[in-house]
Amino acid sequence: MNCLGTLLTLCALVPSAHFANNAIAWCYHLPTCNDSTWPTIATISCNGSRQSPINIVSGSAQIDPNLNAFTFSNFDSPLAMDTITNTGKTVKVNFVRGISISGGALSENYDSLQFHLHWGRGASVPGSEHTVDGRRYPMELHIVNSKSSYKRNTTLAVADSTGLAALGFMIEEMGGDATGQPASWQTLSSYLAQIPNSGDKVLMQPGVSLTDLLPGVDITRYYRYLGSLTTPSCNEAVVWSVFKDTIKVSRDVIDRFSTMLRVSNSTSPLIVDNYRNLQPALRVTTQLASSTSSASRTCYSLGLMFLSVLLGRT
Ligand SMILES: *[C@@H]1O[C@H](CO)[C@@H](O)[C@H](O)[C@H]1NC(C)=O
Ligand SMILES: *[C@@H]1O[C@H](CO)[C@@H](O)[C@H](O)[C@H]1NC(C)=O
Ligand SMILES: *[C@@H]1O[C@H](CO)[C@@H](O)[C@H](O)[C@H]1NC(C)=O
Ligand SMILES: *[C@@H]1O[C@H](CO)[C@@H](O)[C@H](O)[C@H]1NC(C)=O
Ligand SMILES: [Zn+2]
Repeated sequence: MNCLGTLLTLCALVPSAHFANNAIAWCYHLPTCNDSTWPTIATISCNGSRQSPINIVSGSAQIDPNLNAFTFSNFDSPLAMDTITNTGKTVKVNFVRGISISGGALSENYDSLQFHLHWGRGASVPGSEHTVDGRRYPMELHIVNSKSSYKRNTTLAVADSTGLAALGFMIEEMGGDATGQPASWQTLSSYLAQIPNSGDKVLMQPGVSLTDLLPGVDITRYYRYLGSLTTPSCNEAVVWSVFKDTIKVSRDVIDRFSTMLRVSNSTSPLIVDNYRNLQPALRVTTQLASSTSSASRTCYSLGLMFLSVLLGRT
């Protein structure tokens, strides 16, 4: 990453920061520093060739039988979430130690560090970063994980083309007249009133687990591609997994994110549209189409796995 010294200082102060290099005055809301300027103000990577986010074209995703199920460790712990912070760019939840992911065709175990969100202007003006078949969703949840062998040293992780694994989940408006749903998201959003300004940070109470925030998501079904951080310095160090199932959240809860958090102090603008524009297409892989029944899917996957073993691929 650019400006290593600054990053190390930031990392020491804020473990698992949003990997934002604050030495570069980047932003979402001003023409002088919005994402159209990042390739010139953060030239180490933002002008690169495997940049995120992208539009995922479901019909063009190539089948990869190696994309097996994830194992999420301690995602069901009610103690996983430690602090919640308004970074001025997003809302970020840091995790306690001991949360990790493996499987998912990752090369090793990855420590789960934090999640944060991207949004537009409420449920009606979408702001996910990835789009799927051209559709932008109201919000996107990113869970950031770093190779366990790097022991949470993000400088090392961003210097490795697969040093980070990011899990992307699309958030969709729940149908009907529901309010305050699901309870896990209602609880999460209830913290926003305590962190209105950039730099505000509070401890979270035990209760909601990461699994609680992912209701109805089949973690065996995802798109995979090699990309980058979506914020400066845009390091090309990220194995992306974008899940096919969406998280359904009621409109009132979605609307809170774009109406309660400010980019700086109480007189500054609200954080809205905190997503990067789409980058050029990249090769995307996935499991077999969901239209196949689960039994035949397993059978076909096993067949392909067997074939790939025969062909000497593992
Ligand atoms: C970003 O800034 C450019 C000018 O540098 C402007 O053309 C564009 O509309 C801005 N985009 C947003 C989303 O503000
Ligand atoms: C990105 O910017 C850097 C620094 O200015 C430059 O060395 C590099 O060639 C640029 N890369 C591309 C793909 O333009
Ligand atoms: C991360 O690793 C680098 C390279 O080994 C080292 O210089 C740096 O001090 C480490 N950073 C932290 C925060 O431990
Ligand atoms: C908010 O920040 C701006 C710019 O940094 C400053 O001029 C202003 O005095 C601040 N307002 C308050 C209420 O702190
Ligand atoms: Zn993100």
